[in-house]
Amino acid sequence: MTDGRIAKARLGADGSQVGVQGLGCMGMSWAYGPSDAGEARATLERALELGVTLFDTADAYGAGENEKFLSPFFGRHRDEVVIATKFGISSSPDEPYKRIIRNDPQYIRQCVEASLKRLDVEVIDLYYMHRRDVTVPIEETAGTMAELVREGKVRHLGLSEVTAGELRAAHAVHPIAAVQSEWSLFSRDIEANVVPAAKALGVTLVPYSPLGRGFLTGSFSNADTDLTDQDFRRTMPRFTGENAAANVALLEPIRTVAEAHGASPAQIALAWVQQQAAVYGLPVVPIPGTTKRTRVEENVDATRVVLSADELGLLEPIAAKVAGDRYPDMTFSSAGRE
Ligand SMILES: NC(=O)c1ccc[n+]([C@@H]2O[C@H](COP(=O)([O-])OP(=O)(O)OC[C@H]3O[C@@H](n4cnc5c(N)ncnc54)[C@H](OP(=O)(O)O)[C@@H]3O)[C@@H](O)[C@H]2O)c1
Repeated sequence: MTDGRIAKARLGADGSQVGVQGLGCMGMSWAYGPSDAGEARATLERALELGVTLFDTADAYGAGENEKFLSPFFGRHRDEVVIATKFGISSSPDEPYKRIIRNDPQYIRQCVEASLKRLDVEVIDLYYMHRRDVTVPIEETAGTMAELVREGKVRHLGLSEVTAGELRAAHAVHPIAAVQSEWSLFSRDIEANVVPAAKALGVTLVPYSPLGRGFLTGSFSNADTDLTDQDFRRTMPRFTGENAAANVALLEPIRTVAEAHGASPAQIALAWVQQQAAVYGLPVVPIPGTTKRTRVEENVDATRVVLSADELGLLEPIAAKVAGDRYPDMTFSSAGRE
């Protein structure tokens, strides 16, 4: 940290910079049960004060509600923030967690106009394809996204949950600034192919759910019993039933390392993912999600924690032992298509 603000990291290859930790805003409107809107607004302001500049949303989060919620904050700070949003997943109001994935040009054009309107901005700084629609060639999707850049609607392009092959094919059409995929002490599948491809192409890695959707912090142990009916995590195999019980036992080394640093387990989980930047030699900008000021302070403070080689060794075996998949249907992830 410099002057109380976090360091910066490169976003893509054109010299743009963002704070080395971003803020995931999904939980402010969707997925993890109700949140306090006033506290969430204060959390956004606090994050910016601390040097967080990359704010992550998507049109899918609450069917546009999350973008609308963020819009006044972005309006007040337009020149200081890097706005990241996404297209590609929609859902019906009756079945909010049943997803429809589309990447065709007509749909992308509808989505970008709708996001620009809800966000009330003239340009989106980082526009991601949220999920891959395998019925549309990735080159066609990237081609449409490139047109949006040329038209001034979008500044940088990103892809979420893509395979290394999809990343290379899209990057050949137009430079991709960032890949956003799940990466944490519990979810390391992208290290095999996606991370090396991103490094080779100069692409920044934006790990989502770096706190394992909160499980790594110890804030819940079993989604069946600890979380509300509206909570998306109740659909995730690794957080329910016997899997959850087995996975809680894997948190012990994280607690051990946390005690040695006088830090929280959340901070160790974030320090680990941040340190993968040095391990793999590419810019890494995790986007932990929180709706609370005290937690954004705690999370940002994790950028000062440096883990030793012994500590990294202690944490190394965790991911391979995790019981249960990341999603109920793994074709929703890049690993399901590798
Ligand atoms: N591209 C994709 O497909 C995709 C998928 C999922 C998420 N995302 C993006 O990534 C962002 C982050 O992922 P995520 O929200 O799924 O998971 P996460 O960052 O791993 O964890 C968020 C959860 O951890 C809790 N939390 C945060 N800081 C904490 C701390 N210091 N101590 C204890 N608990 C803490 C939060 O609760 P409180 O709010 O109560 O603090 C929330 O329940 C999202 O907001 C979204 O923008 C993208």
